[in-house]
Amino acid sequence: MTLAISPTDRVFILTGAGVSAESGIPTFRGVGGLWRNYRIEEVASPDAWHRDPRLVWEFYSMRRRVALPAKPNAAHFAIAKLEGALQEQLLVCTQNVDDLHEQAGSKRVVHMHGQLFQSRCDTCRRPPFDDRKTYEPPAEIPGCECGGRIRPHICWFGEVPFDLDRIFDALEKCTLFMAIGTSGVVEPAASFVAHVAHRARTIYVGPERPANASAFTECHLGKAGEVLPGLLDAR
Ligand code: OAD
Repeated sequence: MTLAISPTDRVFILTGAGVSAESGIPTFRGVGGLWRNYRIEEVASPDAWHRDPRLVWEFYSMRRRVALPAKPNAAHFAIAKLEGALQEQLLVCTQNVDDLHEQAGSKRVVHMHGQLFQSRCDTCRRPPFDDRKTYEPPAEIPGCECGGRIRPHICWFGEVPFDLDRIFDALEKCTLFMAIGTSGVVEPAASFVAHVAHRARTIYVGPERPANASAFTECHLGKAGEVLPGLLDAR
């Protein structure tokens, strides 16, 4: 089945960890969702950073190592192809911190939870910078000229996601909302569908129904890399 998308549609695509699963990057919840018996919430928070920054850098170093060789899959390419046809009428809002959408050719991508290959100072306003290094014990926590510590450029639990103005602006205008590979439990992304449900078509793609499934008009069950190329075909 192919989705009917007209040239006047404004498409908002929300992606989650599931879209990168077929590229070899594990999802957060479900099977294999723990790291050394820690839940993501225990290593991805300002509290964790204050308590044990080495543990936090160990976690993100591991994630950098996993994501570094990863290549986009058929789902990323199908989304990029649709953007090629719709241009500025499409926005990809990803909760993922990898760069696989960009590697697939997507240009209009908002990383609401930050970027794995960027770091920033935890104290001063120096802007985030590209950083692919790993900092694992016995390595020291990298320091900033200002005396602060360099942290991953990630939105942790308890912090405000990036680019919310741009995101809500696009949500206000969208006529077709798609969520792909996200469990629908982490806010505010989990509520985006409810925000647009009264006027936009809302479609979910993933192998199982998300926690917020009842807000979607259609759920297409299956792996994103298998479902999306057909669903978004011929544009
Ligand atoms: P989750 O790990 O919570 O959910 C991943 C979803 O992907 C599940 O619903 C799976 O069913 C689905 N999935 C698995 N394989 C798939 C495939 N091949 N194709 C499509 N879907 C598949 O990940 P998110 O919902 O993205 O935040 O998690 C949201 C946030 O929680 C993350 O951005 C992260 C985490 O804490 C931060 O790190 C700030």
